[in-house]
Amino acid sequence: MDKIGFIGAGNMAFAIAKSIAEKKSNIQINIFDINQERLDFFKKSFKNLVILKSNDEVVKSSDIVFLAVKPQIVGSVLSSIEDSQKIIISILAGVKLKTLSSFLPSARFVRVMPNTPCLVGEMAGAYSFSPNFSGVEIQTVVELLECTGTVIGVDESLMDAVTALSGSGPAFVARLIEYFVDAAVKLGLDRDSAVKLAVATFKGTAILMQEQSMEAEDLITMVTSPKGTTAAGREVLESSSCKEIIYQTLEAARDRGVELGNVK
Ligand SMILES: NC(=O)c1ccc[n+]([C@@H]2O[C@H](COP(=O)([O-])OP(=O)(O)OC[C@H]3O[C@@H](n4cnc5c(N)ncnc54)[C@H](OP(=O)(O)O)[C@@H]3O)[C@@H](O)[C@H]2O)c1
Repeated sequence: MDKIGFIGAGNMAFAIAKSIAEKKSNIQINIFDINQERLDFFKKSFKNLVILKSNDEVVKSSDIVFLAVKPQIVGSVLSSIEDSQKIIISILAGVKLKTLSSFLPSARFVRVMPNTPCLVGEMAGAYSFSPNFSGVEIQTVVELLECTGTVIGVDESLMDAVTALSGSGPAFVARLIEYFVDAAVKLGLDRDSAVKLAVATFKGTAILMQEQSMEAEDLITMVTSPKGTTAAGREVLESSSCKEIIYQTLEAARDRGVELGNVK
């Protein structure tokens, strides 16, 4: 049985473990957390779960380990682990591969930027590998990450851009949904109905584009008839500064990521 370890039993660890256990039933989850309540919660939720006595034991007893604590305590957590060549997947926002390796020089680190929809098995995330992986190991790790949703490989220098797009993205999209709801309420719909329709419209549009590999332009053309309602709305949207504002939003998030990374 493959053994997947978790350092930290928080929300993201739970979401990732759940996605993996659903797709790979024959997996053992090894875990440590200082918080007993979280461990009890994990115990109730997974059948093949082993609670260990330390983070070091998690690393020693597992084939692949997820590092899922808050970034602020990365140093103290990694310092408590004996150096080994184990594969450690870090989901810590903003913590660079070179920082991770400075604590455990022999370990093979993968840096992953997950996002909150991971909680419902719909992660959009990106990964970067440190240089010391074989092709087979990369394939194994990617296959594991794909259990959680959509993942892509990027050069680590692009992690801050990924953080802006898919890490912070759910907050931006949620705000846009709220703007759609507010607009629909102004047009006379009650709020509950507006929320239902707006959320379903964002979800349906995204699924349509994803499942049919549809370009945005193709979908737009599908919905727009000459001089029709969509055409009237597009005239307002596309002549506004909306596109530039979205760029500035992502740019600000990316720049803040760079800033925070430089302080660590
Ligand atoms: N949440 C997101 O949407 C999101 C998105 C992208 C990246 N991330 C990254 O994911 C990581 C985890 O986030 P999260 O939201 O899952 O955090 P979380 O729910 O706070 O989970 C962290 C867990 O680690 C535990 N912990 C503290 N010290 C520990 C130690 N020495 N050894 C083992 N466990 C320890 C915490 O216990 P206590 O609570 O008792 O301290 C907590 O249960 C973060 O690094 C974050 O940057 C999160």
